[in-house]
Amino acid sequence: MTVSARTPSALAAALRDIQAPVRRELEAVPGEIRRIVTADVPLVQEVGNHLLSMKGKLLRPTLTLLSSAVDDGMQSRAITCAAVVELLHLATLIHDDAVDHSVLRRGMPTVNALFSHQISVIMGDFLYSRVMRELVKLEDIEIMRAVSNASDAMTLGEMRQLAAFDALAFTEDDYEHLIRAKTAALFVAACSVGALCGAPSHQQALARYGERLGMAFQVADDLLDYTETAEMTGKPSGLDLREHKVTLPLIASLRNMSPASRARVEELFATTDPDEESVTDVIQLVHESGGIEYARRRADQFAREAEEALAAVPGGPAKAMLLEAIGYAVDRRW
Ligand code: IPE
Ligand code: IPE
Ligand code: MG
Ligand code: MG
Repeated sequence: MTVSARTPSALAAALRDIQAPVRRELEAVPGEIRRIVTADVPLVQEVGNHLLSMKGKLLRPTLTLLSSAVDDGMQSRAITCAAVVELLHLATLIHDDAVDHSVLRRGMPTVNALFSHQISVIMGDFLYSRVMRELVKLEDIEIMRAVSNASDAMTLGEMRQLAAFDALAFTEDDYEHLIRAKTAALFVAACSVGALCGAPSHQQALARYGERLGMAFQVADDLLDYTETAEMTGKPSGLDLREHKVTLPLIASLRNMSPASRARVEELFATTDPDEESVTDVIQLVHESGGIEYARRRADQFAREAEEALAAVPGGPAKAMLLEAIGYAVDRRW
């Protein structure tokens, strides 16, 4: 089992290393994003400036660029595709934060907290529409297919999560189905469009890698909600429980819980606005019932499958960093 003990500075250095083979192209992505979202509407500009000032890890565009570079054939449109992938991610984050009533993202106020719920809805839609417009300009039906598949799966995934009406009956299979849709689908698209911009014969392998990596990434994210502080992650911790979202650490620990402990979990899920104390209490129960270890092991399994998926991809600096990204995804702390 991997014990995530990497320090923040070691993790930041690991991300820099992962991005090194495509550093120049990645540096062009924010400018490309700005070009794509420019509109002559003051409020769009204001929200857009806020979004561009929030610094994310740029992991998905990194995957796009590294995927396009595995075969020495990276095309310049890979930068546009990387920007499109990050924009689609941003659109889903804006909507996700509005849906989750979250106030903190990347260490900064969310769009719904700083502006309003309505502005989040419309700004997310705007980013989606600019993604589509940019894809149409590329006139590549395979790239369009990959991105629209991801967008479709993500939307259905988020809806499925909302509609889970008996949250505590959510099984590990339900959970995997959900995270494949809401998170891994975009990782698949990131790697697929990258492949289409430079290494088309490896598209299938890279898509499979993206899928397994995305699963590992979301399990790790769900762990962080139980194990890290908001100062570390830049988003609220314990929010999944407060929002009654059942993720793998809880699913796994429910299997080992005493009836008394389970009753405390049920009580939290029956309370509309659970207080800090009951959230801390259930987090503690999940730690004590092996939920954290179980989810770590599962993340490690997905990570191994991601590694296997790359077996036939040609070696070189890009592949080496795709491999590094796997360890990063599961060890990260934000
Ligand atoms: C957050 O993704 C959403 C999830 C799928 C868990 P990231 O952790 O990649 O967010 P940023 O882009 O670095 O802020
Ligand atoms: C991932 O789920 C969100 C999307 C795929 C849009 P989370 O709700 O766990 O993501 P965070 O924790 O808010 O980043
Ligand atoms: Mg969320
Ligand atoms: Mg989360």
